[in-house]
Amino acid sequence: MNDKVLLRWLNWFYTLEMGQIDLYVNQAKQSNDDYIKHVLLKIAEIELNHARMFKDIIIRLGSKPLKIDSLLSYITGLLPGKLTPLFGTVNFFYYNYVIETMAIYDYKKLIKKIEPDSVLHCDLLDILTNNLVEEDIHRSWFKDRRESLQRIKKKQKK
Ligand SMILES: [Fe+2]
Ligand SMILES: [Fe+2]
Repeated sequence: MNDKVLLRWLNWFYTLEMGQIDLYVNQAKQSNDDYIKHVLLKIAEIELNHARMFKDIIIRLGSKPLKIDSLLSYITGLLPGKLTPLFGTVNFFYYNYVIETMAIYDYKKLIKKIEPDSVLHCDLLDILTNNLVEEDIHRSWFKDRRESLQRIKKKQKK
């Protein structure tokens, strides 16, 4: 993969991560459950670390990360962050689960394309693998929470 294509990938991940930070911070602000608030902020912190690592690699490639005022970031971040609490907690868990699933899909795709033939590519592979593991854990948490809330709701209906 040439640097130009790689940069496009890295900017995509950077945008995705920044969008997730907005999303989780906004959801945390609007949540009235202290524990959920804590978890969302913890996850946002991890996404921030992901974004920082992408930024570093982009700079090492002699470029600069794209400005995050794109429509995409707005769609993946701010807007759902404001709207999802209105959909109800179960749905916002589901929405987050879908976003994490998309991230996992893309991480796996890029990992397959990277050949560890330079220090930078080896470092990048480490970053991608680390982030993939963390996204996987996020996804499981959202999935688990959604399922247990659904069970509670079903019981209440009986
Ligand atoms: Fe992430
Ligand atoms: Fe994540």
